Amino acid sequence: MSKKLFIETLGCAMNERDSEHMIAELSQKENYTLTDSAEDADLILINTCSVRERPVHKLFSELGAFNKKKKEGAKIGVCGCTASHLGKEIIKRAPYVSFVLGARNVSKITEVLHKPKAVETDINYDESQFAFNDFRSSPYKAYINISIGCDKQCTFCIVPKTRGEEISIPADLIIKEVQKAVDAGAKEVFLLGQNVNNYGRRFSGKHEKINFTELLRRVSRIEGLRRIRFTSPHPFHMDDEFLEEFASNPKICKSMHMPLQSGSSKVLKEMKRGYTKEWFLNRVQKLKEICPEATISTDIIVAFPGESDEDFEETLDVMRKVEFDQVFSFKYSPRPLTEAEKFTNVVDPEVAKERLIRLQDLHQQIVDKKVEQLRGKTFEVYFEELAADNYVRGRTDNNIIVKVKGSEELLGEFKKVTITDVARTVMTGEILEEKDR
Ligand code: 5AD
Ligand code: SF4
Repeated sequence: MSKKLFIETLGCAMNERDSEHMIAELSQKENYTLTDSAEDADLILINTCSVRERPVHKLFSELGAFNKKKKEGAKIGVCGCTASHLGKEIIKRAPYVSFVLGARNVSKITEVLHKPKAVETDINYDESQFAFNDFRSSPYKAYINISIGCDKQCTFCIVPKTRGEEISIPADLIIKEVQKAVDAGAKEVFLLGQNVNNYGRRFSGKHEKINFTELLRRVSRIEGLRRIRFTSPHPFHMDDEFLEEFASNPKICKSMHMPLQSGSSKVLKEMKRGYTKEWFLNRVQKLKEICPEATISTDIIVAFPGESDEDFEETLDVMRKVEFDQVFSFKYSPRPLTEAEKFTNVVDPEVAKERLIRLQDLHQQIVDKKVEQLRGKTFEVYFEELAADNYVRGRTDNNIIVKVKGSEELLGEFKKVTITDVARTVMTGEILEEKDR
């Protein structure tokens, strides 16, 4: 009889893909099948994120809750970035945890399962060419890793300490993975890396060295593939060649993530981001010139140590100038193993709270204005999931979420849709009849 696996995935798309890899290994080598219920599971996995402090705090209360509800003899494993950074500390604080598996040791999942109290957290471990088994949570789009780790030294970020140094996956392996996903029916791929447009920086062993722009060209030649997305690119590596390929290649989806972090060149320097406010705005201007239909999303940290009122105003200034379509905004959270953890010029928590609210309010105004412009427009939507009340949801090329009345038949289909009603996150639309097109 098969055993049951319950898996909770926190954090980013890289973690989603790591979870898929673990599910694949466990189902094909250990006969596990997925369950939605932790109570029924023989194995409970939490794939953790450590990018901010809060989810790390929550981990131990969550582990306690899982320990109470798990069935007799079931195992609990802690995986991912918090596993990398806390290691055996996790088993010290929660002795009922069976194993700890770091973000860069995912391929060892079937090994640690049989090693009581195993702690595998080597951040130099190289999984860039490991032949994982197959599992994809969506038949319509496929996550494809193109690099692992991160070589940047952003002073706020723990990721280089949890995912180790950057290694690119050989291009021929990536192309094979994409081809396999397309053969299995996916029409969209999501290329993943901490720093995708630094692709090619380092390979383990001798491999053809190509950059991200060339990789995009090669992936786009795969027949049957309709859409290419990628995350996360770094503004520092957005050279003209890359932006021009982005704009002109019809398979590359016209939504760009440009993580700003701060609009103040002074703060950006303290963060060691490698660009200035002017460089960022220059890249946005170039993108808007050559690809006006592109939507732009960003990540912003407010109240980084030393951020003055004037620095924060610079961030608001960039917000007004760029009019980001989507903003992921956070209060700075000091992280262990980072340079900024030692910075003493901390911002008062009340000021931090107020800045986050101001930033988010400004963004709501921008969004309210922008979504109004979508009313009555027609887009091609790729339908991916069923939603409540007999709706089916999908995305436009430029990443706008749209729902229409419909059922399963729409899943995996591309349809022309006219937006009839707008909202902050999900638009409502109607499919254009064939005769109207
Ligand atoms: N505090 C707050 N936000 C952070 N991020 C990364 N590290 C921190 C931190 N220490 C944010 C950045 C990054 C996103 C994934 O998380 O904005 O782009
Ligand atoms: Fe979280 Fe960053 Fe790790 Fe992704 S890479 S899981 S965002 S800490």
